[in-house]
Amino acid sequence: MTSTDFAPALADIRAGFEIPPDKVYLDGNSLGPLHRHAREKTLSVLQDEWGDDLIAGWNKHDWINLPLTVGNQVARLVGANPGEVLCCDNLSINLFKALAAALQLNTPRTRIVTEATHFPTDNYIAEGLAQLLGPGTCRVDALPLAEIEQLDFSDVAVLSLAHVDFRTGHRRNLPALTQRAQSGGALVLWDLAHSAGVIDTALSENNVDLAVGCTYKFLNGGPGSPGFLYVAQRHQHAGNVIPGWMGHADRFAFEASYRPAQGIGRFLTGTQSVIALAAAGAALSVLDGIDIGTLRECSLRLSDAFLAALGDHPTTAGIECLTPTPHSDRGSQISLRLPEGYPISQALIERGVIVDFREPDIVRFGFAPLYNQPTDIDQAVAALADIIETRCYEASRFNQRNTVT
Ligand SMILES: Cc1ncc(COP(=O)(O)O)c(C=O)c1O
Repeated sequence: MTSTDFAPALADIRAGFEIPPDKVYLDGNSLGPLHRHAREKTLSVLQDEWGDDLIAGWNKHDWINLPLTVGNQVARLVGANPGEVLCCDNLSINLFKALAAALQLNTPRTRIVTEATHFPTDNYIAEGLAQLLGPGTCRVDALPLAEIEQLDFSDVAVLSLAHVDFRTGHRRNLPALTQRAQSGGALVLWDLAHSAGVIDTALSENNVDLAVGCTYKFLNGGPGSPGFLYVAQRHQHAGNVIPGWMGHADRFAFEASYRPAQGIGRFLTGTQSVIALAAAGAALSVLDGIDIGTLRECSLRLSDAFLAALGDHPTTAGIECLTPTPHSDRGSQISLRLPEGYPISQALIERGVIVDFREPDIVRFGFAPLYNQPTDIDQAVAALADIIETRCYEASRFNQRNTVT
């Protein structure tokens, strides 16, 4: 395979990622690597801002507005308007707020439709909300995607789906599903965990109601970096189900009663992590001026090249690929079904090819256009073929499950 760079324009950015030289990093779908900007900003927040300025940092460095300013950085990448995205809490908490807002906006409808194979937290959160509200006020139907595609939405309050399936890498038809659900009067809530930073979701253009996501995957915000919440401007009169003081119209008046702030700010709850938000903001600044369409094109070229290299090698050619091959249906990862997936993933990691594993037999290879290159693909496929041929994955050290897979 050619080792020609797919995206020479990104070379400077790639050089800023601190990926150890002996590693091929194909796990940006789980945790993006550290970029120099994020390192420098984090150190500066610790030393210059918190260290030197102490509590004055809230005003002097505008810490208080970070959820909005970093949210605006995310907004550009997901095709939303400024003032429609907050960066705060984590995806799970934001999902709880978004689902509750959707039920309120679509009263008297009470039905949440979600996909049976959705990322587990999304369905746990929906069930938790239903248990809290009680059967007359909220019920959850977790259905197969094929059923959702044909569903009558006339009694559905909100459809909650992942844009890209975390197991298979299947990209869903966001415009068509949004339109179909809305034409039946439902609201639509998208989980963008695996799309933000690699696929243009064009939220405004597609008239999406609500969305949630995280910044630690393809946005490289760091382990456990904050989530984000998108609420279309037309829905920002909805209530925040966790109405904390940070979402109050006048926080420092310390009023006895809650009065929600105008706009997206009302969906804040408590004090956010300044250090984590600043790091995420610095990581997002790496994407300033980069067109998301260019990133998508580069991601597809990487995953195409990976599929071609797998097909060209006699040892890997027969491996089942769970990710759909049409570009319109593919996210930014390739998921392979390997019966010995766990030990094979561990053997790859030992050789410096960083991937991850999802039960029961899925090895995921994530493609991040900001830092992956064609040479990564050559190395990954060569390592995978050799591991399968030599059966070295049978060694006991590869068969002991780590807590995080
Ligand atoms: C698709 C999807 N949704 C939700 C989550 C959970 O996000 P968080 O733990 O940040 O709340 C993840 C985490 O990886 C995910 O991949």
